[in-house]
Order: sequence, then C-alpha cells, then structure tokens
Amino acid sequence: MLKIESANKYYRNSEETIHVLKNINLDVKKGTFIAIMGPSGSGKSTLLGVAAGLDRVDDGKVLIDGEELGTKSENELAKLRSEKIGFIFQNFQLIRNLTALENVSLPMVISKKLSEKEIAERARFLLEKVSLGHRVDHFPAQLSGGEEQRVAIARAFANNPVLLFADEPTGNLDSKNSEIVLKMLIDLNKNFGSTLVIVTHDKKVADLADLVYEMKDGVLELKQTETVEKVEQEVKEVKEKIVSKKKTKPKTKSRAKKK
Ligand SMILES: Nc1ncnc2c1ncn2[C@@H]1O[C@H](COP(=O)(O)OP(=O)(O)OP(=O)(O)O)[C@@H](O)[C@H]1O
Ligand SMILES: [Mg+2]
Repeated sequence: MLKIESANKYYRNSEETIHVLKNINLDVKKGTFIAIMGPSGSGKSTLLGVAAGLDRVDDGKVLIDGEELGTKSENELAKLRSEKIGFIFQNFQLIRNLTALENVSLPMVISKKLSEKEIAERARFLLEKVSLGHRVDHFPAQLSGGEEQRVAIARAFANNPVLLFADEPTGNLDSKNSEIVLKMLIDLNKNFGSTLVIVTHDKKVADLADLVYEMKDGVLELKQTETVEKVEQEVKEVKEKIVSKKKTKPKTKSRAKKK
C-alpha cells in the first residue's frame, strides 16, 4: 500500500542543512495499522508529509499502491490525495473562512461522489460522531483546540480513505474524546480495510497498532511490539522456573537421604 525506499530529506537554509529523514525504508501492507513514536523534532511529521505526497523527498522513492509519487505533477498528486488519502494534521489546517460543516464537506465536494444533500448529511453525521453536533456552524476561530482537532478528524474520514495519515490525532483531546477518535480509527481500519499510519505519543494508541516504529533523529526503526516483549518475558520466566527447579532438586534428595 505504502512503500518508502531509501528516502532522504534535507532542510536547507543559508546557515545550515538539516538531514531530517535519513535513509528511510518502510513497507506498510494494505489494511495494517502502524504507529510512529519518537521525540519532538525527530522528523515524524516530515515523514508523514512525504509519505502522503504533501512534500517531496530529496532522494529515494515513495510509492502508494505501486505509483511513484516523485514522478507525479502537483495536480496528479492532489488527485491521488483526494481519491485515496485522509490526513489529520498536527496543527489541524482547517480552512479559516469555512464553518465546521463546510470544512468536513470539502473533501466530498472535491471528489464529487455524493449529492449536495448527501454531503451535508454525512458531514453532520461525522461531526456528531466526534461530539460536535452543536458546533456545525462555528468557524475555526470560534472553536477550542480540541474541537478544531475533532473537525479535522471528521474531515479526514469524509471519503473513507484507503490510507489515513494522522499526526497526533489525540494530542489535544480529553479521555472521552480520544476514546471516540480511537474507536473511529479502528472502525475505519477494520470495517473498510483502511491502512492507518499514525504518529503518536499516546501509549494507548500505540498499543492498538499492528506495528510500532520509532523515529530517532531522522532514523526510523521498528520497535519491539508489546506482544513480542510479553512473549519474551514469559519465555524468560519459564526458563527461570526450570533453572530454579533444577537447583532445588538435589536439596530434596539430600533431605530424603538424611531421613
Ligand atoms: N520547513 C522547515 N524548514 C527547516 N527546518 C524544518 C522545517 N520543518 C521542520 N524542520 C525541522 O526538521 C526537524 C523535524 O521536524 P518535524 O516537524 O518532522 O518533527 P516531529 O518529529 O514531527 O516533531 P514533533 O513531535 O514536535 O511534532 C525539526 O528539527 C524541525 O525544526
Ligand atoms: Mg510533528
């Protein structure tokens, strides 16, 4: 579904060059849910940006469904994004002069698959799902940070994207709303087979992922998943039990001898 091969990216200004993505390799199979963790400034948002075709790599390749993004024009990329991709930005990126309802409607208006009435109904339904049924006519400036984030989430789900990128989707939410958002993400993954690539600091989100990666200073590494760690811990405990049994055995014997 998403493949990144030997990708590098640099940010250059007059004083310095930052090597922000260092030889990234990633292969995300269709229908999987991957989480990317890692410290602030390590390159997570940059990676999502290039993976979604919002930004370009300096060398290496990014492929979505086998199509190489580097060979595409800006218009072709925009078309591919509107057909396949949902993106929840870290800073939401809502359109300031559109209401919540209009922001959520926008991807559906662009993809032209539903009637005006259906679009409005679906946008309202999605906003209700993220507990914003009472704020549909508010402009972004009239919403709290967490509410803006939820509008951005509703917008990302509008077209049931096959590939959803989310940058800290629960970062500004309280526990009730982050649970709602998590449920929506899992539902999209399980019921539509959508592939999820989520940047998060939230362990609850990472625990639900099939694979967890860690970004450290521009280098992406597969992190041991909880399951692997758990199995290894269990194996270790069994081994320890066997060793301690062996140790205790002779004692029993010697006691028996004494008797
Ligand atoms: N447009 C840019 N020009 C120059 N440097 C940039 C630009 N965008 C990001 N950077 C730098 O690249 C590095 C990686 O940034 P990025 O936003 O990908 O980090 P991040 O892992 O998403 O961090 P956070 O967890 O804080 O969101 C940072 O050091 C940042 O300052
Ligand atoms: Mg970021």
